[in-house]
Amino acid sequence: MSATPETGLRAENITVTFGRGDRAFTAVDDATVVVAPGEIVGLVGESGSGKSTVSRVICGLQREYSGRVSFAGGELSPKRTAAQWRVVQMVFQDPFASLDPRYTVRATLAEVIRHHRLATGRALRARCEELMEMVRLPVEFLDRTPTAMSGGQRQRVAIARALAVEPKVIVADEAVSALDVSVQAEIVALFARLREELGLSILFISHDLAVVRSLCERVYVIHNGVIVEENTTAEIFSAPQDEYTRTLLAAIPRFDSAFLDSASPGRVPAGSSAVSEGAAPPRRGDGESPRRENAVSAEDAGPETYRLRPRPTKGGPE
Ligand SMILES: Nc1ncnc2c1ncn2[C@@H]1O[C@H](COP(=O)(O)OP(=O)(O)OP(=O)(O)O)[C@@H](O)[C@H]1O
Ligand SMILES: [Mg+2]
Repeated sequence: MSATPETGLRAENITVTFGRGDRAFTAVDDATVVVAPGEIVGLVGESGSGKSTVSRVICGLQREYSGRVSFAGGELSPKRTAAQWRVVQMVFQDPFASLDPRYTVRATLAEVIRHHRLATGRALRARCEELMEMVRLPVEFLDRTPTAMSGGQRQRVAIARALAVEPKVIVADEAVSALDVSVQAEIVALFARLREELGLSILFISHDLAVVRSLCERVYVIHNGVIVEENTTAEIFSAPQDEYTRTLLAAIPRFDSAFLDSASPGRVPAGSSAVSEGAAPPRRGDGESPRRENAVSAEDAGPETYRLRPRPTKGGPE
């Protein structure tokens, strides 16, 4: 009997309890989340359901838990080595959480590249430029600080910083939630393109089910720390099995029947917040820059058009 080699990210039977004794509170209860190589998986649930706690365990930021996190069969222990740390990188809602506003983008990227001894000198400079290209920001932005950028541009820098260590998995925790709708669509398109180009696995956490539906192939629903449902995006949205999932869908006004009829996974109806197949390229930076006069439009880097494609089904060629 030959064992199938484990691939991708696996967070298995994760339990996190905060506090002790009478005050002990189980924030995550025996949750299992798996993301295959090159797969984009959603994690949805209401505020306080445990989404960020799961993501912090996966990223190595929450070290006290029971269960096991692994990538390609190798455990990512609670106390990670530098090499293990690089495997999973996180992108947060607030780019300032990961960006020092005093540092230029170049300094931010160079620091992490040097820290992990990935490049020096000319190769380091080239790598910084390559990262800007990956996130579709003009190279000139390397010499700016985050304060002189719009929210969407800052989030691109945060993504570049995550990519700088050549991760296999990105965990995006409400990474588009603070952005204007048009900018959200651009960042969603960026995640989709990065998955295609780099083969990244992405765990996409959001309370915005329309965005999740447009980007993710599979979805986990978490309620009070328990994964109550896991299925393909199509099944979750067309035939939710769990009562809580149904409540979650019903609570979203955008999920009226017209929306449900017109949308399918990986393909977003015109006028929705995510990327529409064949739609005109979204305009960047509209209405989101507090310092429009200072900020060079990211349009300089060329418009981003991206076609979201359904992924091959399980067992198909990767
Ligand atoms: N360090 C901590 N100490 C004590 N309780 C915590 C801690 N971190 C999170 N919690 C609690 O665990 C539960 C889950 O929190 P978590 O942040 O994972 O939820 P979430 O689903 O990400 O919510 P949101 O959508 O608001 O971001 C909440 O009740 C929260 O108050
Ligand atoms: Mg959270």
